[in-house]
Amino acid sequence: MGYIKVCQASEVPEGSSLRVEDPAGALAVHNYEGQFYVTQDRCTHDEWSLSEGYLEDGMIECSLHWAKFCVKTGQVKAPPACQALKIYPVRITGDDIEVDVEAGHLT
Ligand code: FES
Repeated sequence: MGYIKVCQASEVPEGSSLRVEDPAGALAVHNYEGQFYVTQDRCTHDEWSLSEGYLEDGMIECSLHWAKFCVKTGQVKAPPACQALKIYPVRITGDDIEVDVEAGHLT
């Protein structure tokens, strides 16, 4: 399948996250300091959408129980989560954000 368009860059202002649906499951597109990163949207602690959380200091903060994950690597930075997030390769083509949804992986 390779890279597929998931949204437009203009839909994800700096400092925000956007949930997008994909055949592989919901993904979260994050714009941190003008760079785009894509992770699974579901928190590894419970059923909660990380795109509903906060993005600061290079971390995604879950808004349900406040676990933190590195936006670049998906690694856990604060409990109660103990499993990392899957991250996905992302590229920008024009204003399109494209994700290789089959290449999601743990770091
Ligand atoms: S659901 Fe995210 S920390 Fe609990």
